[in-house]
Amino acid sequence: MSLALAARAVRDNAYAPYSNFKVGAALRGAAGAVFSGCNVENVAYPEGTCAEAGAIAAMVAAGETRLTEVYVIADSPAPVPPCGGCRQKLLEFGAPDTPVTLATTSGTEITTTLAELLPGAFANAHMDKAKGSAKGKA
Ligand code: THU
Repeated sequence: MSLALAARAVRDNAYAPYSNFKVGAALRGAAGAVFSGCNVENVAYPEGTCAEAGAIAAMVAAGETRLTEVYVIADSPAPVPPCGGCRQKLLEFGAPDTPVTLATTSGTEITTTLAELLPGAFANAHMDKAKGSAKGKA
């Protein structure tokens, strides 16, 4: 199944009674499988989760930890970009050159990359010094 179709289909199931803004996301895992997720809001607003986070959880639950492509769709005037936190979450499992397509339900698409969405990303290497000095500690 294409990422576009998967993201569009899962968006129908989004639970967004507070924002009324339904989002669908689909990822392609390194082995080729497609994983999808939708936003799930909560009356305690900060407890809501983004569509991208749901798709990542589905991918990891299935035993896949690398993604090669991302697609996000919403009914917005301009293609919807992943929020800042989701950019960092996506990069955890993708690469700087991983393509990310942002789409509207009316058919506009923009393709960018994780590096363009998250320049100067925090990475494991930034902790090298701290990890070295933590060696041997419980
Ligand atoms: N949302 C997503 O699911 N993904 C995005 O990329 C942007 C925002 C959701 C979170 C919340 O349920 C609603 O959209 C409004 O912020």
